[in-house]
Amino acid sequence: MFATLEQLPPDPILGLGAAFREDPSPDKVDLSVGVYKDRAGNTPVMTVVKEAEQALIASQATKVYLPAAGSPGFREGIFKLVMGEQAAGLRLRTAVLQAAGGCGALRLGAELVQRAQPGATLLLGDPTWPNHGPLLSGGGLQLLRHPYYDPATRSVVLQPVLDALSVASPGTLVLLQASCHNPTGVDPTREQWEQILAVITARRLVPFFDIAYQGLGDDPDTDAWPIREAARQVPEMLVAVSSSKNFGLYRERTGALLVLAEDRDRASAIESHANKAARAMYSMPPAHGALIVERILTDPQRETAWRSELASMCAHIRGLRSKLAEGIMAARPGYDASWITRQRGMFSLLGIARDDVNTLREQHHIYMGYDSRANLAGLNEDNLPRVAGLVAPLLPGN
Ligand code: LMR
Repeated sequence: MFATLEQLPPDPILGLGAAFREDPSPDKVDLSVGVYKDRAGNTPVMTVVKEAEQALIASQATKVYLPAAGSPGFREGIFKLVMGEQAAGLRLRTAVLQAAGGCGALRLGAELVQRAQPGATLLLGDPTWPNHGPLLSGGGLQLLRHPYYDPATRSVVLQPVLDALSVASPGTLVLLQASCHNPTGVDPTREQWEQILAVITARRLVPFFDIAYQGLGDDPDTDAWPIREAARQVPEMLVAVSSSKNFGLYRERTGALLVLAEDRDRASAIESHANKAARAMYSMPPAHGALIVERILTDPQRETAWRSELASMCAHIRGLRSKLAEGIMAARPGYDASWITRQRGMFSLLGIARDDVNTLREQHHIYMGYDSRANLAGLNEDNLPRVAGLVAPLLPGN
């Protein structure tokens, strides 16, 4: 049966994480997989998560199945976190479905669209997170790529984005990263978002937001602004939410799919189809991470503690951005590295040639994506000067 299957190459992101773990060098630096790291290079369990988890374990009396759509408290908490308090009026026409991480939410969304509009088209900016393609096309969507980013100016190429949207047929889906763009770190400005959303509304396109880093760019409300703005304008949209990074729950596979529908009956029908699609894939989502998030988001004290812990993680990343820019400018006088501090979230697409990326890994034990995506959260006081010094001469431009 399986003799036809040849060994595949490792995953372009997770494979690097595995290679890093196997590297015995004491100088190794991990800028590969998008996980938060503290000053010591660890990815700790957040204090508030630990406390909520202990409370959960102490009081949990059963491990019986969750409902297919997930835990009600988690679903309400995530809806409010993403859509904002002011969106309460939209709740009845929004299907909120707990999912196995942001990946599970993206895939569930694609499965749902496939049930409603088989073979629907989804516009996808280039570059984007490499797993968007497999997750969404695996769910049956036809992908159409358009340019998103100009490496020379390190900014969004607005006109080609608007052009791609302007010729799309009504009902076409548009994948949009709400904040902390993966892999570039470059988000549209508010003015650019307004123009993008205006074309989406005029052409009756359907936004499919991905929000995986809420609170790690600016703060949770600012980072969700494009979604909230879209919700005021469009009748239908999807939002894939991840709790992996902002709650540090990576391996617990915690996330949600929000589907804004035209009315309450449609939202209910969507939920029934999502439940059936989930039943055919994995039955119901994992509970542990979601119940922790629920305990945080339904308890004002814990939520405040979480927001403040998240804010210090965000500030730490922004501090690293400043220090990296300074380090690069010190190593390369005359070079303007201020783009690093203008970007948001964990990632920067450094623009380093692939051969140089390989040399950094093979000779200097610095691991970043093959496309030169660097997770800057992997920097710390010890490794930053060396990374800045080695990277500075390899950056394009002057
Ligand atoms: C990343 O982009 O590095 C993370 O989202 C981890 C992953 O699954 O790729």
